[in-house]
Amino acid sequence: HVTRRADYTPPDWQVPDIALDFDLAPERTRVRATLNVVRGGAHDRPLRLDGGGQTLLSVSVDGVAVNDWTLEDGALVLPLAGSEHVIETEVEIAPDRNTQLMGLYASGGNLCTQCEAEGFRRITFFPDRPDVLSRYRVKMTADKARFPVLLANGDPIAQGDLEGGKHWAEWHDPFLKPCYLFAMVAGDLHANKGQFVTMSGRTVDLGIWVRAADVPRTQHALEALKTSMAWDEKVYGREYDLDVFNIVAVDDFNFGAMENKGLNVFNSRYILADPDTATDYDYDAIAAVVAHEYFHNWSGNRVTCRDWFQLSLKEGFTVYRDQSFSADQGSAAVKRIEDVRGLRAAQFPEDAGPLAHPIRPDEYQEISNFYTATIYNKGAEVIRMLATMLGAADFRKGSDLYFDRFDGTAATCEDFVHSMEEASGADLSQFRLWYSQAGTPRVKAQIAHTPGSGRAVLTLEQTVPPTPGQPDKQPMVLPIKLKLFGAETAKPLSEEKLAILSDGRAEIAFEEVTERPVLSINRGFSAPVVVETDRTPEDLAFLSAHDDDPFARYEAMQQLMLDTLVADASGMQSDHDAVIAAVALTLDDPALDRAFVAEAVLLPSESFIGDQMAVVDPDAIYAAREALRHAIGKTLEAKWRGIYALAAAQGPYAYSPAAKGLRRMKTVALGYIAASGAADAATLAFAQFEAADNMTDRQGALTSLVNSDGKERVAALDIFYNRYSDNALVLDKWFQTQALSQRDDTLAAVQDLVRHSDFTLANPNRARALVGAFAVNQRAFNAASGAGYRFVADQLIALDKLNPQTAAKLLPPLGRWRRFDAGRAALMKAELERIVSTPGLSKDMFEQASKSLAG
Ligand code: ARG
Ligand code: ZN
Repeated sequence: HVTRRADYTPPDWQVPDIALDFDLAPERTRVRATLNVVRGGAHDRPLRLDGGGQTLLSVSVDGVAVNDWTLEDGALVLPLAGSEHVIETEVEIAPDRNTQLMGLYASGGNLCTQCEAEGFRRITFFPDRPDVLSRYRVKMTADKARFPVLLANGDPIAQGDLEGGKHWAEWHDPFLKPCYLFAMVAGDLHANKGQFVTMSGRTVDLGIWVRAADVPRTQHALEALKTSMAWDEKVYGREYDLDVFNIVAVDDFNFGAMENKGLNVFNSRYILADPDTATDYDYDAIAAVVAHEYFHNWSGNRVTCRDWFQLSLKEGFTVYRDQSFSADQGSAAVKRIEDVRGLRAAQFPEDAGPLAHPIRPDEYQEISNFYTATIYNKGAEVIRMLATMLGAADFRKGSDLYFDRFDGTAATCEDFVHSMEEASGADLSQFRLWYSQAGTPRVKAQIAHTPGSGRAVLTLEQTVPPTPGQPDKQPMVLPIKLKLFGAETAKPLSEEKLAILSDGRAEIAFEEVTERPVLSINRGFSAPVVVETDRTPEDLAFLSAHDDDPFARYEAMQQLMLDTLVADASGMQSDHDAVIAAVALTLDDPALDRAFVAEAVLLPSESFIGDQMAVVDPDAIYAAREALRHAIGKTLEAKWRGIYALAAAQGPYAYSPAAKGLRRMKTVALGYIAASGAADAATLAFAQFEAADNMTDRQGALTSLVNSDGKERVAALDIFYNRYSDNALVLDKWFQTQALSQRDDTLAAVQDLVRHSDFTLANPNRARALVGAFAVNQRAFNAASGAGYRFVADQLIALDKLNPQTAAKLLPPLGRWRRFDAGRAALMKAELERIVSTPGLSKDMFEQASKSLAG
């Protein structure tokens, strides 16, 4: 069954008010719902309340029990005469048997909810669509010893004790919200509490709720929350609106976190951190996700989405907001590099594969499958392009207009673009193609310089590749930042230009070009496109040393490395000296911050190299990359050792940008020392592993050891496991590090790990750490025997029976068969066919697998 954007109609019935009364217990929870329903317009259609899996106990209309209802596809259909009624339903659900983790479920002995996108219908019968906005009153009753804390959206109103060891609490949320933002948590939880005074002087009570033993790991998240609240006031003029803001961390969660009004629920990996258990990367991710969910209070909650095709309205904008926030907290250049690396790793392959879709899709079978890198990350790039083209002041005017005009409503992507247009006066008609056309545009750039004339002409040509269902594309609006540098003097020959390419082809003239120009293009990654130029390896090396835009400088080095690696992997022996010289220059440049250098000197990933090739050859790519790593490691061994010694000599752990940069550099240097083939590499790594006073150093060393052969590898894995056997998040790292190993026996190791007593598919983090990580280990997953494909398909078929949503998310690597040789393609297709023909397959998996076969 397919849902289409074009078929949207407003709801037949609105529900301005709802009261929920829960009698909570893991085995059996009673839900009594009282809905005020109002007919929307003149029609005679019955009231249809979505449902899913609950046991219906009773239905009444205006206080009178009725039985003229029917159940259709899980929905309760009730004929009603007048235009306003009070509907009461009573249902029973079993949270402890909810393995899908959608609706009300049990995690670690506590009860929690996840409703986005369509989980609320599994709790009670309701019009489960985001354009039905209601005021919620929630009463929770539960055993007081087992569930001492009772939380829901909004403000706490009253609480009390009952006979039989029970207690109750009542919460009211004064803001209209769609049911996907409903949340409720009951459990034995303890809070790290704080306060925030808003710009208008209101005091908000903050609480990060976790199990007692985890409270010491919540300070970073609490600080990030306060910083986010201040940032949204300063940068977007958005103030928080309730008296309390609570966050609960749970171990079993299908994705990162959820922005429920006043009660965010988080995957514990995005809350819990201390130096001993969390890496610098984890700390950054926690701040980013805390900010992301907080920012949704405006971009998502106060203004929500009319329907799920508009998902990028809240997600693209909110990712853009959290990226800007993170950029403001540390190095903006390094943040941009990380975001672009993420986009290329996750979104570009999506755009180039069978599951390609525009940021505002036209149809879906299962909406959960559309929480993608395209909706989120390409969506953020689209908002970023608007900000770039309109400028900060007009972008802010547009955002103010959007928030003011659509506050309290369910809006569309069009409403957002129109607000930007109205506030700025810009014409965004063609720009709207970004919402409807899928595929990553390609831009070809060539520069012609006539020495003596002082004139240089840059020719830009764009093409947008065909994607499933979209064979022909129109040219898009591409904001491309450009600058020219003189090849002899290394001086800028022009100011930075923002070229807006909106035709298939354009020429841009530069005057007073007094020496051979070297082109710096798509600076800051101003447009999410692939750029092809005729720049030579010398030009790229030159830019990697002299460009004044840090992203462009990184990019030049990456392109140089990529060209070399693609040539090597294609059997055309290339020259490694240019890369090695460029790396050496970057290492020696005292003006660069260490975090930037660490990013710049890392080779592109195996999968990104594969993305550049007509047919991905995983073994040749691996060999080429290892050979270049060896050459860089060996030739510059003295430098790597110098850097390593310097970084290793830093004092005790500190969480500062400088200390983070040094730690990053240390692990990169260790990697190159190992790649050089040095005999003492494992000794060095093991020493780092043992001496580490923080997880970044410890995991960095472990990653290096896991790729090695010596006795240190086994010892480190044992020590790590024993030290952290009671910490689920760190055990995830233990599983993941092994699944990403470059050793030849990785598949066998992973097959053993599936049988490990700590492995379970029931916990999404654990499933992703092992199965998900293995599926992106390009060489191991794509073993020519097909054993990697078979292993992943087996696991996904098993996982689908428990948790379809998480299973379906892990399928895309199997859908990349067109990118491989005929042998591998046939093996991958066979696994997809096996999945599609599995009896009882979920619609989540069916959509992903069948589209992957057809696309
Ligand atoms: N809105 C949440 C966030 O972006 C994620 C919800 C994901 N839901 C889903 N069905 N995949 O933070
Ligand atoms: Zn979000």
